[in-house]
Amino acid sequence: MEHEIFKGCQLEWIKAKTKKNHSFRYFVLGTSDPQGSPELRTVVLRGFDAGKMQFVVYTDARTAKLKSLESNPVAELLFYHGPRLTQIRVKAQLVSAAPDDELFKQQHEGAQKDYTTALPPGAVIKGIDQVSYTTENHFRKLIFQAESIEYLKLKRPNHIRLRFQKTDQGWETNYLTP
Ligand SMILES: Cc1cc2nc3c(=O)[nH]c(=O)nc-3n(C[C@H](O)[C@H](O)[C@H](O)COP(=O)(O)O)c2cc1C
Repeated sequence: MEHEIFKGCQLEWIKAKTKKNHSFRYFVLGTSDPQGSPELRTVVLRGFDAGKMQFVVYTDARTAKLKSLESNPVAELLFYHGPRLTQIRVKAQLVSAAPDDELFKQQHEGAQKDYTTALPPGAVIKGIDQVSYTTENHFRKLIFQAESIEYLKLKRPNHIRLRFQKTDQGWETNYLTP
């Protein structure tokens, strides 16, 4: 059963890349700020490599999350599927945060603009129409390598809680007390 669950998770992440209303398209990315305080925010799943178990997120180089990840590259990715009462927590390591001009050019015009604000994301402004843009883009492609995955499905009579741990031999599985 655990093999099917692992494969099932991979399938949902693959679907989420293209299906706009998929429950896993938006997920919560958790990091620790340089002082060690937790930070959570919603992001879009832009890519998933099932072979490598890597997740892709796009962001602006100037965001707080990148400063946090520079000081501590460990992150947690939280996915929740409401109708199925299923939660997946992925502990991951940031392995790349590179610019990618080709990928940037493939984004539609509005999305491109988001990465070109004159002020960094989070800077105080006087009103919502007070944002100006430059020709410089701060687009970054973040790649997270999954290290361990915890799956929890609430279900009667038995909840299912499983941990998949990356090892040199593959993914080691353990059932956990829910
Ligand atoms: C629906 C939704 C999707 C979002 N997707 C992204 C995203 O893909 N990448 C991103 O950097 N921020 C995204 N954001 C904004 C983040 O939640 C966050 O506000 C921003 O990245 C600044 O976070 P930080 O200061 O912790 O770095 C999204 C917000 C919402 C509401």
